[in-house]
Amino acid sequence: MPEAELVVIANRLPVDRIAGDDGEPAWRRSPGGLVTALEQVMQKVDGAWVGWAGKADLDVEPFDFDGTRLVPVSLSEEELEDYYEGFSNGTIWPLYHDVIATPVYKRSWWDAYVRVNRRFAEAASEVVAPGGFVWVQDYQLQLVPQMLRELRPDIVIGYFHHIPFPAYGLYAQLPWRRQVLEGLLGADVIGFQRVSDAGNFQRSIRRVLRHQTKSDTISVPQPDGTTRTAIAKAYPISIDAQSFIELAQDPAIRARAVEIREQLGNPSKVLLGVDRLDYTKGIRHRLKAFGELLEDGRVEVGDVTLVQVASPSRPGVEAYQDLRDEIELTVGRINGDYDTIHHTAIRYLHQGFPREEMVALYLAADVMLVTALRDGMNLVAKEYVAVHADNRGVLMLSEFAGAADELSSALLVNPHDIDGMKDAVMRAIEMSPAEQSRRMRSMRRRVLENDVERWGRRFLADLEHIRSQRTAAAS
Ligand code: F6P
Repeated sequence: MPEAELVVIANRLPVDRIAGDDGEPAWRRSPGGLVTALEQVMQKVDGAWVGWAGKADLDVEPFDFDGTRLVPVSLSEEELEDYYEGFSNGTIWPLYHDVIATPVYKRSWWDAYVRVNRRFAEAASEVVAPGGFVWVQDYQLQLVPQMLRELRPDIVIGYFHHIPFPAYGLYAQLPWRRQVLEGLLGADVIGFQRVSDAGNFQRSIRRVLRHQTKSDTISVPQPDGTTRTAIAKAYPISIDAQSFIELAQDPAIRARAVEIREQLGNPSKVLLGVDRLDYTKGIRHRLKAFGELLEDGRVEVGDVTLVQVASPSRPGVEAYQDLRDEIELTVGRINGDYDTIHHTAIRYLHQGFPREEMVALYLAADVMLVTALRDGMNLVAKEYVAVHADNRGVLMLSEFAGAADELSSALLVNPHDIDGMKDAVMRAIEMSPAEQSRRMRSMRRRVLENDVERWGRRFLADLEHIRSQRTAAAS
């Protein structure tokens, strides 16, 4: 197999398997944020991507797609239950999101996680060129860095953590806390979304492994008595801002935005929420605040409409099934109480939409509600900002989303404080064009400056730096 200079490993491949025009299976680029983020990076290098093909027991040989070599890792039905739905999304996801849902600690899930992480590490070790780079993505694969280091000591390893890293008091619950930290520390560069995530990680390293840390560096003792330096710091991820700006200029998409408002009955204000249907996103809190504003008579149906897109996610995990029931009950109650024949209070869409429709929705919305209880970054916030080249629109943003570090000119809210959220919604609805413009201008500057290209470049430059240091030390 040809060797790749840069190998990305992620839980999913950047493609979905669909039925082609001739009825035969075909591949289509998937719409996710991570894919968009890395697409640009991969197109510039001789790259390969190792990941799961999205269906159980699918055995597919490596293939080329859009100039990148894709290396599928096969997972059985049972492995998906234990490694993906179980340990990744029933243990790590809730624990790392501040136990918003209760994490389940199950030894059989952990065993599957170790087994599957090893399979990913082995697949990558077979395709990476001598002295090349492997960039591991996210919480499903925390053990891969150390496994790879053992298999291929010649390569440079990066790991990027897309979700929060919790405070030590919570992390300490994990029965495998030592193994996970050792797994991550196999990387030369460990990237986080926020400075506070990197700080939490370093504290756990000090408490559990007793390694010394200084600024962005960790001293990792080696079996031969020497020490190696690993870097742990923040690289806030972003979006391909330019592509969103271009979509927002497309006359068809602009016309669609006008049509959306018309189809909603031309309310004077459109509020928008766009999330995966996940308990971390604070959708219930948002609905509660909006329902109370209607009840208090501070907003009227017909005048203000909330559009809530909740794209289906992880339907095999019980907490997600329960959340869906709760949200749909709440939406049904609010609409039942306040809808008129002509107008709805909440237009709820349990569907995923193509990027063009999302941009039309962003353009149509006067206020974007991002009220996550905890979120690694939240790219929706950045997408909303990028498309509003006219500097109109208000972003209401949870301080518990990573994006709040960069977008401090948003209306920042604590989503647990329902009265505070209600006041913030009213402030957003009533905000003067001048204030909207001042806030939006400053946020757009940040999003356009720190786009995904820069994110990728910063991370890869640090990997490159480590390789040069290593080469210099060896000569
Ligand atoms: O935010 C973390 C993340 O894993 C993303 O990388 C991904 O796009 C999203 O959650 C959806 O996750 P899943 O692969 O479980 O559907």
